[in-house]
Amino acid sequence: MQSRLILLADTSWEKILYQATTFSAVIGGTCQEPTPDRSSLELSQAAFCPDFLSNPQFYQSIMGTKVMIPLCSDFAEKHDSICIFGTGDFGRSLGSKLLQSGYSVIFGSRNPGDTSLLPRAAEALSHSEAARKCSVIIAAIQRDHYEFLKELEEVLEGKILVDVSNNVKLNRYPESNAEYLAKIVPKATVVKAFNTVSAWALQSGNLDASRQVFVCSDDNKAKQHVMDIVRAIGLTPQDKGCLVVAKEIEDYPLQLFPMWRLPMYTGAGLTVAVFLYCVIQDIVYNAEKKNDVSHHLMITIPNRIFPVVSLILLALCYLPGVFAAIIQLYRGTKYRRFPNWLDRWMLCRKQLGLVALSFAFLHAIYTLVIPIRYSVKYRADMSIFNQIKMNKTRILEKPLVWRSDTYLALGILGFFFYIVLGITSLPSVSNSVNWREFRFVQSKLGYLTLVLCTGHAMVYGWDRFLILARYRWYMPPVYMVSLVIPCLVLILKLVLIIPCVDKRITRIRQGNQSKLSFNFFNFSEKNES
Ligand SMILES: Cc1cc2nc3c(=O)[nH]c(=O)nc-3n(C[C@H](O)[C@H](O)[C@H](O)COP(=O)(O)OP(=O)(O)OC[C@H]3O[C@@H](n4cnc5c(N)ncnc54)[C@H](O)[C@@H]3O)c2cc1C
Ligand SMILES: NC(=O)c1ccc[n+]([C@@H]2O[C@H](COP(=O)([O-])OP(=O)(O)OC[C@H]3O[C@@H](n4cnc5c(N)ncnc54)[C@H](OP(=O)(O)O)[C@@H]3O)[C@@H](O)[C@H]2O)c1
Ligand code: HEM
Repeated sequence: MQSRLILLADTSWEKILYQATTFSAVIGGTCQEPTPDRSSLELSQAAFCPDFLSNPQFYQSIMGTKVMIPLCSDFAEKHDSICIFGTGDFGRSLGSKLLQSGYSVIFGSRNPGDTSLLPRAAEALSHSEAARKCSVIIAAIQRDHYEFLKELEEVLEGKILVDVSNNVKLNRYPESNAEYLAKIVPKATVVKAFNTVSAWALQSGNLDASRQVFVCSDDNKAKQHVMDIVRAIGLTPQDKGCLVVAKEIEDYPLQLFPMWRLPMYTGAGLTVAVFLYCVIQDIVYNAEKKNDVSHHLMITIPNRIFPVVSLILLALCYLPGVFAAIIQLYRGTKYRRFPNWLDRWMLCRKQLGLVALSFAFLHAIYTLVIPIRYSVKYRADMSIFNQIKMNKTRILEKPLVWRSDTYLALGILGFFFYIVLGITSLPSVSNSVNWREFRFVQSKLGYLTLVLCTGHAMVYGWDRFLILARYRWYMPPVYMVSLVIPCLVLILKLVLIIPCVDKRITRIRQGNQSKLSFNFFNFSEKNES
C-alpha cells in the first residue's frame, strides 16, 4: 500500500513517523508500505519540511492529504537533565515548565542552599556541579553577569549553552548577547532561544500570543536539540539561522509595534489634517457668517474625517503595488531591490489596511445615528412645517432617489468587502487558504473594495463639485480631496491592466528580463570588477 509521508526536520519527529508508519494513516510525500521495520522507510523520497509545525495547514492544503499530528509531545519518553544557571524569575518559570514536560532540572546558583522559591522536583547545585551533570545549560542570567562563566570554561567545553537574555535598550552593545557569550566561552556551543517568551506567560500558561520561539546558532545539531526542547514544552520553534541573527531576535522584545508605527502615524497625521480642513471650511467659515455650527464637532465633522481618512488609507494600500509595477516595467526586471521607502511601505500594507478598516467601522457606526440626531429630526420637522405653511408639496425627485440609494448601496457593499479583507488577514483564516486564494482576496477583491468605496464617495458628491458655493474660501469639499489618491491609483491600475502592458509586467514577474536590464547588469558587474 502506498501512503504519504512528511519528514520533519528533527530526530524526535522521525520517531513519530516511525510510529506512524505502523499505522496505515500518514502524511505528505511518499513512503513505502507501513511497516514496523524502520529500515524500509524510504526517507529519501520524503518531503523535507522543517517549518511544518509552524504551519501544518499550509502543507495540508498543498498536499491535499490528511496530516497526522501527534497529541503527546514526549511520546512516553524520559527526557535528559537540563541545567539552568540563575534562579531568578525566568529561570524558575522555565524550570517548572521543563519539569512538567518530563525533564529533570538542575539549577546552578550562587546560593544552592536557598531553594525556597524553586520547584520542589528541581535540584540546586553550584554552577560547576550543575553544568557537569548536563549537556544543555540554559543561562537565565543578565548579560552584565556573564563574566563569571569564563571560570567555567573547562566544564562548559562541548556543551550546549542557551542564551535567553534580552537588553533594556536598543543597540546598547556592539554585538548581540549571544555572540558575546560565544566569545566568553568559545569552547561551548551557543544557541539563542526563548528570549521572546516572558516568564509570566510561561508560568501562567498564557502563551497564546507568544508561542513562537526564535532559535539561532552556528551549530545545526545543537540548534535542533534546543528546538526539540522547545517543542517538548509545547512551544513552536522557528529556525532563524546562524548566530548573527541573534541581534535581530534580541531587538524584537524592545520594539513597540514596529510594523504599526508608519500606518498609525499616517492615520493620525491624516486625521489631524482633515480635522483642521473641516473645521476651517465648516465651523470657522460659518462663524464668520454669524452662524454658529460648533455642534458639528461632535458627529458631522468626525463622520467626514473617518470616511475620508479610511478611503485615503485604503488607496495607500494599493498605491505601492502600482509603484512597484511601474518600477519593474521601467527596469525591465524584478531582480533588483525596490528603494527602501517602497519596501517599508509594501511591508506595512496589512497594518495600513487594518487601520483603514477601523476608520471605516467608525464611519458606519456614526452613520447609524444620523436619523436619531436632534438637529436632523428638527430639520425634517421644519421641512414638513414649511411645506404646510407655504402649502407646497415637495415632489419626489427621482434622480435624488437614485443618487442616495446608489451611494448607500455602494458604501454597504464596499464595507462588506472591506470586512472580508480584514477577516482574511487573520492568521487563522490566512493559514487555511493557499497563497493564490489569499492573493485573489487581497489583490482582486481589494481593488473591488477600492472601486466600490471610491464610487460611494463620488456618487455621494454627485454634482456638488460643479456648485461654486461649495468651494468655501476656494477650498473644495472634503469628499473631493478624499478622491484624489484613490482615483490616481485606479487610473494607474487601469493603465497597468491594458493587455500589452499587463503581458510585459507578467513576463517580468515570471522572471524574464529585458535585454536592456541584462546590459545594465553586465555594465554594473564590469564596473564593480
Ligand atoms: C482590511 C485589510 C486587510 C489587509 N490584510 C492584509 C494582509 O493580511 N496581508 C497583506 O499582505 N496585505 C493586506 N492588506 C493590504 C492589501 O490588500 C494587500 O497588500 C494586497 O495584496 C495588495 O495588492 P496589490 O495587487 O496592490 O499588490 P501585490 O498583491 O502585493 O502585488 C502586486 C505584484 O507585485 C509583486 N510584488 C509584491 N511585492 C513584491 C516585492 N517585495 N518584490 C517584488 N515583487 C513584488 C507581486 O508579484 C504581484 O504580482 C490588507 C488591506 C486591507 C484593506
Ligand atoms: N523575566 C522575563 O520575563 C524574561 C523573558 C525572556 C528573557 N529573560 C532573560 O532571562 C534572563 C534572566 O531574567 P530574570 O528575569 O530571571 O532575571 P532575575 O530575576 O534578575 O534573575 C537573574 C538571576 O541571575 C543570577 N545572578 C544575578 N547576579 C548574578 C551574578 N553577578 N553572577 C551570577 N549570577 C547572577 C541570580 O540567580 P542566583 O541567585 O541563583 O545565582 C538571579 O536570580 C535575563 O537575561 C533576561 O533578559 C527574562
Ligand atoms: C455601511 C456602509 C456605509 C454607509 C451606510 C455609508 C453611508 C454614508 C453616508 C450617509 C454618507 C454621508 C454622510 C453625511 O452626509 O454627512 C457617507 C459619506 C461618505 N462615505 Fe460612506 N458609508 C458606508 C461605508 C463607507 C466606506 C466603506 C467608505 C470608504 C472608506 C465610505 C466613504 C465615504 C466618504 C469619503 C464620504 C464623504 C464624506 C463627506 O465628505 O462628508 N463610506 N457615507
